[in-house]
Amino acid sequence: MTRLKLFVTRQLPRDVCDAVPADVSLAMYEHEKQAIPREELLARVAGARGIVTMLTERIDEEVMNAAGPQLAVISTMSVGFEHIDRGAAAQRGIVVCHTPDVLTETTADLVFALLLATARQLPQAERALREGQWGTWQPFQFLGTDVHGKTIGLLGMGGIAQAVARRARGFGMRILYWSRSRKSDVEETLGVTYSDLTTLLQASDFVVPLLPGGDATRHLIDQHALSRMKRNAMLINASRGSVVDEDALLQALQTRAIAGAGLDVFAREPIALTHPLLREERVVLLPHIGSATLETRTSMARRALENALLVMRGEAPFDRV
Ligand code: DGY
Repeated sequence: MTRLKLFVTRQLPRDVCDAVPADVSLAMYEHEKQAIPREELLARVAGARGIVTMLTERIDEEVMNAAGPQLAVISTMSVGFEHIDRGAAAQRGIVVCHTPDVLTETTADLVFALLLATARQLPQAERALREGQWGTWQPFQFLGTDVHGKTIGLLGMGGIAQAVARRARGFGMRILYWSRSRKSDVEETLGVTYSDLTTLLQASDFVVPLLPGGDATRHLIDQHALSRMKRNAMLINASRGSVVDEDALLQALQTRAIAGAGLDVFAREPIALTHPLLREERVVLLPHIGSATLETRTSMARRALENALLVMRGEAPFDRV
């Protein structure tokens, strides 16, 4: 009996891989800390019935052709799927899966942590302590801005935005949201108020995009949007780097058009060490760690494998895109 091949583009924990049944041959890029080189990806997907990928791989026609006509499923260990050419997959009848839900609460925790860290300048204060700049307690040192009682403006009202809204309620914040489709059902349960984009930008102390990447949201936060924000407002982005025009953001920070930014995602990842954003003191920068807890990354890995295995067995996956 020929075993179906499943190719995984990154090393996953052994106990997660134990779920792969004996009739499936598991091939994996055996590195955890680096992405598979393109040439190796193209060579190693050959003959695969399923591919489990990370968001670091571009899964386009070339990869699908290199895999061959038996490829039935591309399953990504991420909620975002803009790195997969869904049109090309659909043409070939390939099912695309992702891992929503399992990361919702964890990512909302990070969004809120980033918001608090940016508002209260936590990384800056911590760096100063380590560098011996504490001196003595000073009445006007490391002054941040309050979070409680302020207005948060959420762009999007999907699962993660709703989870962020629940946290914001706990902080006594006023919550505005804008989204392409109004979510009347959650307005009452979460106490969120729908707003047009311009009003939201003008009224919010914290502007928080929680939108998917891709053409529809590209540079939604551009120079025009930033110019609508209050001078003491902050931008918190842990969704996709493409949502924000980084050049415009840099200019807004340099001209003090806005007060700060917390960023977990960037147009290019990893961001270059020479990027001018790294020299901005009023910015908190994180290396795309929104869902990075042991529990959640393990659940995502399991789910990505399960989705692929289900399709390979001819069954419906949990999370078809
Ligand atoms: C995703 O899942 O798309 C996040 O960006 C990483 O968890």
